[in-house]
Amino acid sequence: MKLIEVTDHEEMSSIASSYISNRVRKNSHLNLGLATGGTPKRTYELLINDYKNNGTSYSYVTTFNLDEYIGLPKEDVNSYHYYMNQHLFKYINIDQKRIFIPDGLSQNIELECKEYEERINAHGGIDLQLLGIGANGHIGFNEPGTSFQSDTHVVELTPSTRIANARFFDFIENVPTHAVTMGIASIMASKEILLLVSGEEKSQALKRLLSADDPTESFPASILKTHPCVTIIADTKALKDLNQIKASPTNHMI
Ligand code: GLP
Repeated sequence: MKLIEVTDHEEMSSIASSYISNRVRKNSHLNLGLATGGTPKRTYELLINDYKNNGTSYSYVTTFNLDEYIGLPKEDVNSYHYYMNQHLFKYINIDQKRIFIPDGLSQNIELECKEYEERINAHGGIDLQLLGIGANGHIGFNEPGTSFQSDTHVVELTPSTRIANARFFDFIENVPTHAVTMGIASIMASKEILLLVSGEEKSQALKRLLSADDPTESFPASILKTHPCVTIIADTKALKDLNQIKASPTNHMI
């Protein structure tokens, strides 16, 4: 894994957005895996700026989102469909037919999971997957204990994840209890992974990810250590626990 240490959330977002737009410019047919949550919002804003200022085209880019809540309509402000539209898609020239997000309202959710996985494979797999991380080490909605062999599947969200995500809802009772998520194996099949880590609340998780410990299903993100092409961009707050023993920001391989 390559670690890029940055000062703050803004610098993380700026580097991430350049990283992604460079990939899109190099490969107009890029299959891009996308994440939601607070972490990538500013990155998406900067991608929109880049689209407006530099004309980076998304007309042949295909996107696959990591996850979606079960039970929220696409128009619900807390659905990831709504999030992606509001924070990125409606501002760039992406073809609606090339946008894929799991359907959390499917009448046959098991079939939806199977077909989502097949759709990714039919497109030749994900070239670049953008990832965030949960404080408990979850990636996508793959909570601790998820099999490293998992494909797209239904998950029951842990109380800690529901509490963490309650900030986007009026009441915690409104946070869905279940979600569809790409599995760990689906994420690991991506050719390249860009992990963004920002804020003190992620500091313990980042420290654990960068530790010498073997991958364990009790800490889902730890599998990333075995992926051949992972870049982590982390800000000073997220690096707090790690940097107690180190000096100034730098880039290095782990
Ligand atoms: C959420 C999402 C993940 C996201 C993570 C961190 O629950 N399902 O895809 O990466 O948790 O979210 P945030 O960036 O808001 O901290």
